[in-house]
Amino acid sequence: MATHPITLDYSLAMQSGLSSPAGLSDAEIEAQLEPTSAAVRALLARADSGELGFFALPTQRDMLTEIQAVASRLPAGFTDVLVLGIGGSSLGTRAVLEALRPPAIAGRALLGQGPAVHLPDNSDPWIFAHLLKTLEPSNTVVLVISKSGGTVETAAQMLIAQEWLQKALGKDGARARIVAITDPTSGTLRELATAEGWATLPIPSNVGGRFCALTAVGLLPALLCGLDAQAMLSGAAAMAERCRATRATDNPAAMIALLSWLHDRERGHSIHVMMPYADRLKSFAAWYVQLWAESLGKRVDRAGHTVECGPTPLPAVGATDQHAQVQLFMEGPRNKLVTFIGLAHHELDLTVPKNEGANAYLSGASLAQLLEAERLGTTEALAADGRPSLTLVVQKLDASAVGGLLFLYEAATAFSGELYGINAFDQPGVELGKKLAFGLLGRAGYEASGEQIRAAQRARPGRYRS
Ligand code: PA5
Repeated sequence: MATHPITLDYSLAMQSGLSSPAGLSDAEIEAQLEPTSAAVRALLARADSGELGFFALPTQRDMLTEIQAVASRLPAGFTDVLVLGIGGSSLGTRAVLEALRPPAIAGRALLGQGPAVHLPDNSDPWIFAHLLKTLEPSNTVVLVISKSGGTVETAAQMLIAQEWLQKALGKDGARARIVAITDPTSGTLRELATAEGWATLPIPSNVGGRFCALTAVGLLPALLCGLDAQAMLSGAAAMAERCRATRATDNPAAMIALLSWLHDRERGHSIHVMMPYADRLKSFAAWYVQLWAESLGKRVDRAGHTVECGPTPLPAVGATDQHAQVQLFMEGPRNKLVTFIGLAHHELDLTVPKNEGANAYLSGASLAQLLEAERLGTTEALAADGRPSLTLVVQKLDASAVGGLLFLYEAATAFSGELYGINAFDQPGVELGKKLAFGLLGRAGYEASGEQIRAAQRARPGRYRS
């Protein structure tokens, strides 16, 4: 049987593999197979009815053609792409680019590798001000990304960047360099883009912000960098096919969901560590953190009962974190499930030269072998102490595998939402903080929020300051 490009090994999440009751028993898995199948069927029904759009993205016809058409109309010769977006509107893009592009060495993109892409993400002025001082407007294109179209951080950066372009290039010059990626019909960004005459690309209405990496959000920056966006979609489509299997043991996303949920609920393993042994997947781990946290951290279930559930995702990277967090994973509280990601094949490798003395054992070893030995060493060390883990092996980290990984975790998150009985596609918990900030900024309609925050501050005793 041919090996899948991405495989899941969960032996060390199981009692038998771990030789410890911290692992799950076959009976526990068996008992949950039918409920998990029901969760998969329920999710697929919502996807197939068009309610949840992310599942169909990999096979969506015409999406790439439309993106290519917009890309081809951008002014030729740009050297920089400034991507304005936050959360789901930037993390997936960053994950894709970091996994598939050579790194910028000391801030310098390697010659001939296409434009430099900047994702300031946060509204902290430190990075953004430096970017605008450094970039040359006539060499830059600006992608404004917001599903809702109303995200304050993105709106503020967009207005600043538009003024920056207009001052240098005039209205027409600026217009030619801005692309808005947003909801097809609604939202402030859509209205503004129409009024300003910017090129636009849609994020389908039925695709939520953190599930949109496989839309123009991730695909346009990939195309602008000369990456194989079609291969990303093909890899995601192959994974989507695997994720349609209703038996969890045949469906890697359902299995990740089931194992994670059981470890959280039945073993108190509520911290879910994502630890790739590949620097190229550091941003993938950051993307996973947002997806897992915002989707699964919920106060109420779908019946309205208070549940206050959700595992805490934690990013790590091997081998670097063997010199940082692994001490905690090995000897700290037994509340973690670690997912390791290993690469079976590294495109680039270096061999340690033959040498004598204390380092002689490294003679002829490659850095990829070293990394792999460290991954296995850490996995087995955790297992020897009864600490559970999952392992994903990626045969080759190419565009197809990146599409597959993104889809795998989108589906795993959606299936997890079904198992927890919560709505994985909303984020009510982030609203109050936003409203209070709008109140402080004096936004019309939020006067009461402004008063609420000032009143709370006045009422708070000031005597606990140091
Ligand atoms: O998943 C989500 O919905 C959020 O994390 C959003 O991606 C984030 O808040 C940015 O929102 P928007 O894309 O609407 O600007």
